[in-house]
Amino acid sequence: MSEASAQVQADLDRLLPLLDSLLTKPFREGEAIRLAEAMRYSLEAGGKRVRPVLCMLACEAVGGTADQALPGALALEYVHTYSLIHDDLPAMDDDDLRRGRPTNHKVFGEGHAILAGDALLTEAFGVLAASDLDPARRAEALLLLAVGSGWRGMAGGQALDLEAEARAKAHRLVKRDGPKGEAQEGPSVGETIATYDLDHLRLIHRLKTGALLRASLEIGAVLGGATSANRAALRAYGEAIGLAFQIQDDILDTTATDADLGKRAGKDAGKGKITYPSLLGLDGARKALSEATETALCHLASLPNRNSLAAWARYLAQRAK
Ligand code: IPE
Ligand code: IPE
Ligand code: MG
Ligand code: MG
Ligand code: MG
Repeated sequence: MSEASAQVQADLDRLLPLLDSLLTKPFREGEAIRLAEAMRYSLEAGGKRVRPVLCMLACEAVGGTADQALPGALALEYVHTYSLIHDDLPAMDDDDLRRGRPTNHKVFGEGHAILAGDALLTEAFGVLAASDLDPARRAEALLLLAVGSGWRGMAGGQALDLEAEARAKAHRLVKRDGPKGEAQEGPSVGETIATYDLDHLRLIHRLKTGALLRASLEIGAVLGGATSANRAALRAYGEAIGLAFQIQDDILDTTATDADLGKRAGKDAGKGKITYPSLLGLDGARKALSEATETALCHLASLPNRNSLAAWARYLAQRAK
């Protein structure tokens, strides 16, 4: 095991019990039993818990405790799990496997999957609002969560992702068969480059994945009472690993198996998604990943307590799932 993986494992062993003891607790009683079951189904399926753990580590990195960050950590995993449930819907990526299980809508139906996502999103704000955190820090964390998950963040990025997919599809139709032509096989790299440049792809990735990861670090910093310099460093680190995380997600889609990922591999190319490997090839994508990871590590340089976060940046770039 590499040094980074050993550090990550030690952090997970220490922090996951805190999180897991509370994650599904609110959804164990109430009237809407099937909706609660749908929410628990996706939360209990597992997942790497990257966002909540990074939130707690950011809090510790600025001198706070993991407990102080717990309401933020729970909120982030609720928002993230909602985003996955909706991302898998037929109107979006239309996937049938997630976290090693059939997707939420395959088990509970589309209506309940939409509602489970809605309810997780609202619960995220609820758990933060109801916490006994310092009121000013709590308000700041709520705002960061709103920006990271909303139309300027994750939801906005998901919309751009859908629009890019639709434009790539339309472009292929026209290019191959004329304006009235029928769709043929998937895209070629050259055609994809003709309609999209790297700046636009980077924007999509920064929003759809980077915004919530950046918020995870910044919420942890705020809840730990960070100085403005440390908060800015963690925000910049979060921005860089957010981009790196989605680049590695794109790479794994082309190199890993369903069993490795617990979700369908090879879907991006099949759907004509714009990804780092589709624009730059696998080697180019790997280079971009390592640049983003180095950028993340640079931003940690001024933090007093940076070992865990440095290990996580290295681990996330090498992860196999
Ligand atoms: C998958 O996120 C979706 C992206 C934003 C790339 P994760 O890879 O963190 O998914 P889980 O939580 O481990 O299932
Ligand atoms: C999803 O990106 C990002 C989200 C905000 C959920 P992907 O569509 O690539 O995520 P996966 O590969 O399905 O997990
Ligand atoms: Mg998607
Ligand atoms: Mg998807
Ligand atoms: Mg993906």
